[in-house]
Amino acid sequence: MCGIVGYVGRQDGVPILMEGLQRLEYRGYDSAGVAVAKNGALRVHKAQGKVRDLAAGLPKRVAGPAGIAHTRWATHGVPSDVNAHPHVDATGNVAVVHNGIIENAGVLRARLEQEGVAFASETDTEVLAHLIARSDAPDLEDAVREALRAVQGTYGLAVVDARHPDRLVIARNGSPVVIGIGEREMLVASDVAALVRHTQQIVHLDDGEMATLRPDGYSTSTLDAQPTQKTASTIDWGAEQYDKGGAEHYMLKEIHEQGAAVQGTLRGRLDHRFGTAHLGGLNLSARELRSVRRVKILGCGSAYYAGLMGAGTIESLARIPADAEPASEFRYRNPVIEADTLYVAVSQSGETADTLAAVQEVTRRGGRVLGIVNVVGSSIARACDGGVYLHAGPEVSVASTKAFTCTAVAFALLGLHLGRIRDLGPADGQRLAAALAELPSQVEEVLARDGLIAEVAEAFAGCDSAFYVGRVRGYPVALEGAQKLKEISYVHAEAYPSSELKHGPLALIEPGLPTVAIVPDDELLDKNRSTVEQIRARDGRVIIVGHRSLGGLADHEILVPRSQPELDPILLGIPLQLLAYHAAVALGRDVDQPRNLAKSVTVE
Ligand code: F6R
Repeated sequence: MCGIVGYVGRQDGVPILMEGLQRLEYRGYDSAGVAVAKNGALRVHKAQGKVRDLAAGLPKRVAGPAGIAHTRWATHGVPSDVNAHPHVDATGNVAVVHNGIIENAGVLRARLEQEGVAFASETDTEVLAHLIARSDAPDLEDAVREALRAVQGTYGLAVVDARHPDRLVIARNGSPVVIGIGEREMLVASDVAALVRHTQQIVHLDDGEMATLRPDGYSTSTLDAQPTQKTASTIDWGAEQYDKGGAEHYMLKEIHEQGAAVQGTLRGRLDHRFGTAHLGGLNLSARELRSVRRVKILGCGSAYYAGLMGAGTIESLARIPADAEPASEFRYRNPVIEADTLYVAVSQSGETADTLAAVQEVTRRGGRVLGIVNVVGSSIARACDGGVYLHAGPEVSVASTKAFTCTAVAFALLGLHLGRIRDLGPADGQRLAAALAELPSQVEEVLARDGLIAEVAEAFAGCDSAFYVGRVRGYPVALEGAQKLKEISYVHAEAYPSSELKHGPLALIEPGLPTVAIVPDDELLDKNRSTVEQIRARDGRVIIVGHRSLGGLADHEILVPRSQPELDPILLGIPLQLLAYHAAVALGRDVDQPRNLAKSVTVE
C-alpha cells in the first residue's frame, strides 16, 4: 500500500528519495511523486504508473536538500498524475505526503472551498496541504499541529515547506512512520525497507506523535505540544536482504530461503533436555499460562490460515481449546473478551489495519494479546503484551511464503511451551523438540523437488479453476494452497475439508479439473485415499501432496519428508507455494506484485 520517504540533509535528496521509492514498490501502488525544496521554491513531479515512469519524467536539474516522496494506492480518487502525492497548497509552498484516510475530508474540503480555496485533486490528503498553509502559526510544526487538530482519521505524513528547506515535519496516527538517523542527515519512511541503505538507527513514532527533522537531529512531541523522549533502535535486517539476489522473483527467493528462515525462528528456542521451548518475549509466567483456558488466534489472509494451523497445533500439544478467526471480522462483531483466554495476533508486517484494530479492541477490554510478528518494532508488535518474533528476514513478495511457514513453526514452539507447562510429558516434548530441530534440513529436501513441482504446475496451465482438499490438519494447508494459487495466478481456487466434498462441491468435479489433495501418512490415510478415489471416479485430475505413493491412483504425486504428525502440515504446505509460483509464471503473471493486492494492508 502507500509508502512515504523523506530526506533532509546536506546532500541532494532526490536520488535518495527515488531509491527509497523503489524499495517501497513491493508494497503495491498505482502512482508516485516527489517534492523537493530549494532556494525558496518547491519542485513537484508526479506520475501515474511505476516509479520508473516518474524517474523518466524527472528533469536532471531537480535537486534539493529537503524533500518528500510517495507511492500511492488509490483510496479517494482514481489513480492519476493529479491524484498522486505530494499534494501542494494553493501558494505552492507546502507539500504533503500521506498514508491513511482523512475521514472528515469532505466537510473540510467544503469549508475550504467556501473560503475560496481551489482544489487540484480528488484526494482527502489535499485538505491537509491547504490547512497547513493557511495556518497563522509561525513555525511549520505548529502549523501542522493546528491542521491535524481539525482532522479525523488515520495518518502517517511528512510535510516540506519551501520557506523552511532545513526541516521536515512528520506525524503519525494509525499509520507507521519511522525516523532514520543518518550522519548529518535525517530520513523518514513508512517502512524500514526505504531506510536500510542509509542507516541502521531508527526511531518509531507512536500514534499521536509528531516530529521535526533537521540534518543534525530531531525533536518529537505530542499533538498537544508536549515533548516526548524516544530511544533509537537498530534495524536487524541488512540492506542486502532486501535484494532479489539473482532470483527471478522475490517470491521464489523467499520460498527458497525457508530453510534458513525456519532456523531463524527456532534459534535459541529449543530446550532438548526438558523437551520444551523457551520463548523469552511472552512476558507471561508459567503460572499465568497454566490459567489459560482458551486460545483465540487473530490474523488476516495467509496470517489467518497460519493461525488455523496454529490452533490445531496448540490444541493437540497443549490440549487447550484453540481457534482462529479473521481479525477483519472479529473487530466488527462485538466479541466476548474472556479474562482466561489468550489472544494471539498473527501478522508478517505487523501493520495490517484490521489485525491492529482487533488487538486494540481486545487490549481495551482488558484481554491479553500475544503477537506472532515478523517485523520488529511494528505497530502490532508494540501493541501486544508480548509475543514471538519470527526472525524470518524481510518478506518482499506480496504473496506470503516464508512468514507463513515460520508462523506455523512459531505456533509449534508456543504449543510445545504451553503443552509442557500442562499435560505434555517430557518424552513427547523431546520427540517434538527433536522434530522441530530437523525441520530446516527437511525444508531443504522439499525445496529440492522444485523441478518436479514446476512440471506438475503445468496441470493448472489451461484450467480456469482448481480444488484443494485436506482433512483436519491438512485443511489449513489446503486453504493456504488455494489462496496462493488465486492471488498470484488468478486461477479460481477453492479449498474444502476433504470430508465436505460429497456434501456439495463434488458436483463440480469434471474431467480434467485439477484437485490438490493433502494426503499425509497418518491415521486418516484411508479416508484421504477414498476422497482421491471419488475424484478419480469422476475423471478429475488429482495431485497428491503427501508422504507415500498411492500406487498410481493419483495423476501426480509430490512426496515430502515425514516429520511428527503435529508438524507435518509445515512441510506439506511448501510444495503448494511452488505449485502456485510455477503456475503463475507459466501464465505470465506479475508474481511479486499481483493485481489489486498490496503487501501490507494498512487501511480498511
Ligand atoms: C497472502 C498475503 C495476505 C497477508 C495478509 C496479512 O499471501 O500475503 O493474505 O497474509 O494481508 O498480512 P500480515 O501478515 O502482514 O498481517
